[in-house]
Formats: sequence, structure tokens, C-alpha cells
Amino acid sequence: MAKKIILDVDTGSDDAVAIMLAALHPDIDLLGVCAVNGNLPLKNTLENTLRVIELVGVQNKVPVAKGCARPMVKDLLPGREHNPYTKPYKIDENGNYIGYHHPYFDLPESVTKPVKENFITWYIDTIKNCPEKVTLVPVGPLTNIGMLLRADPTVLDNVEEIVIMGGGHAESNHSAAGEFNIWADPEAAEIVMQSGAKITLVPLDCTHKVSRVSRSDFGRFKEIGNPVSDFILQLLEDRIAGYKAIQPGAMEDDESAALHDVLCVAYCIDPSVLDNLLTTRVDVDFSGGFADGKTVIDTRHNRDLPDNCTVAFGGDREKFLDILLDACKNYR
Ligand code: BDR
Ligand code: CA
Repeated sequence: MAKKIILDVDTGSDDAVAIMLAALHPDIDLLGVCAVNGNLPLKNTLENTLRVIELVGVQNKVPVAKGCARPMVKDLLPGREHNPYTKPYKIDENGNYIGYHHPYFDLPESVTKPVKENFITWYIDTIKNCPEKVTLVPVGPLTNIGMLLRADPTVLDNVEEIVIMGGGHAESNHSAAGEFNIWADPEAAEIVMQSGAKITLVPLDCTHKVSRVSRSDFGRFKEIGNPVSDFILQLLEDRIAGYKAIQPGAMEDDESAALHDVLCVAYCIDPSVLDNLLTTRVDVDFSGGFADGKTVIDTRHNRDLPDNCTVAFGGDREKFLDILLDACKNYR
């Protein structure tokens, strides 16, 4: 039976591919998508989400909700902004924008409207009215999920699992300590971590290896040659250029890019795509100092606090690629 999931996204190039995989794979029943502020302002992440939903042609089946435009409390402490962090784009000497996420996708403007209810009402109704347990897949900052769990923690009675793209143990990308999604709303991330839900965390230590797509894989997408595979190739070009300009050396080969968020959806389809799993205690630092937004993953054998999370450190890149390519072929 297809797994019921709700994606929470800050679309975003890899978020876009995660939406396409979830919408096209027969083992997933995508109950809806909620946009959040993150890679780009909410106005952009919402519009980009709607454009992708229309590209895949599921606008009459998959509702889109408009989530939070700001983090829960992070920007109330402006001193945090003095900690160094990397901007996710650069302007080159000719004035060209180079980054992982262009402000708007090169797709037709959307005509679909988001749902009328506020996102919390929509989440609560969608989860509680579902005859089977729902898996939440947040792949952006955790603001919407933190707000939802504060508003009505009883939704967890009908939540199977929360699969989060975020954090890092030995790896980081946005600040020296903070992976972008967790850094962008550390309080919300800690609320989710302490919620008592079954949580699987897919951090950079895993996505950098397992969700990496290389230019040498492009032929397999070109062979499919439909609007979805073509769009993924376009996004991969942006992401490879982004890695080269902003994080040179982060990938095993410079002609490749990680599609972090997509790995969470691939895991919902086939859990064996992830391995090297550690069930342990994870908390998020929200001190406002240099470790702000760090996922503190306890690797000790003498842990003080109860386990709350399973962290994936590895997986099968070939399996990941096969799952994504097979789903692209389902586009009609
Ligand atoms: C995460 O941050 C965003 O840039 C990506 O969409 C992904 O969710 C990786 O750190
Ligand atoms: Ca994302």
C-alpha cells in the first residue's frame, strides 16, 4: 500500500525534485505539500512549489498550503546574524547570479491557488482525517512543524514518523556548525526533536554521499527525455555551478551535486536506501553563539538523556538514482 506523506518544503531546487519524486512514485500517496520560508522567502518557495506541482500535472490532486514566512523566534535575537555564515549565492564579475536556488524556476507562472485554510488547520485536518498513519517529511527549516506541534501535539497520534533532512555531525554547510535547515530555525528544530515522535534524521554526512548526482549520470536522465527529467537536468546544472562557486570540494567530484531533500522521499519508498543508522539522542543548539543550529548527535555509549532519533550516516547511491530515474519514467 502506498505510504501517505506530507512534504514540507522551501522550494528550492532539491525540494523541487523531492516533490516530483513523491508525486510520481506509485508507492507514495502525496497528501499535500506545505511551503515554508527558507532557501528563499515564502513568496518564492510557495510560487516555485506551485509551478512544480503544475509541471508534474498533479494540481487537482495534491493541495498546497502556505506556511510560515519567518522563523519562530530566531530573528528576535539579531546578534546571531554576526556569526559568520555563507550566503547561498554569488554574483559573478558579469553580474550573473550563481546559486543552488534561483529566485523563481524557469517554468510557467502558476495558476493554482494554495488552500484557503491556514496551514495549521490544514495540517491538523489532513493528518487526523487520514485513515492511515501519515509520514511527515520536512525538508526545509522546521518552522511549520514546530508550530503545528505546539498548536496540537495530539496530531502525533496519527503520525507514523517524521523524516527530516537536516543537520550534520562531521559535516556542515551554512555556518561552521549549522546545516542550513536547522540553522534557519533552531528553536523549531529542537521542539520537533523533543516532541516524542519517531524521527529519522538524514544529515549532510549522509546526503553528501548518497544523494550525489554526477554529470556522468546525466545520460540516464537524457535518455528519458521528458519534461520532468529535463527539468531535473536544468536544476542539476544550477546546483553543480552553486557547489563549485560556494562550496568547492564539498562533493567527491566537482561535476556533481547533492539532492539532499530527495533522499528523504527515497527513504519513504525504500528504507534500505539508508544504512549505517544510529539510534541516539539528538538536540539542537539554539544558544545564539557559534554553535547555533548545530545538531548535537550524542555518539557516546553513556548517554545522559533518552534516545529520540535515528540518524542515517550512509546509504546506497545507486539505489537512490534508480528510484529517482524510475519515477521520472512515470510522467505522462
Ligand atoms: C538543505 O538546505 C537547502 O539549501 C536544501 O534545500 C536542503 O534542504 C541542505 O542543507
Ligand atoms: Ca530544502
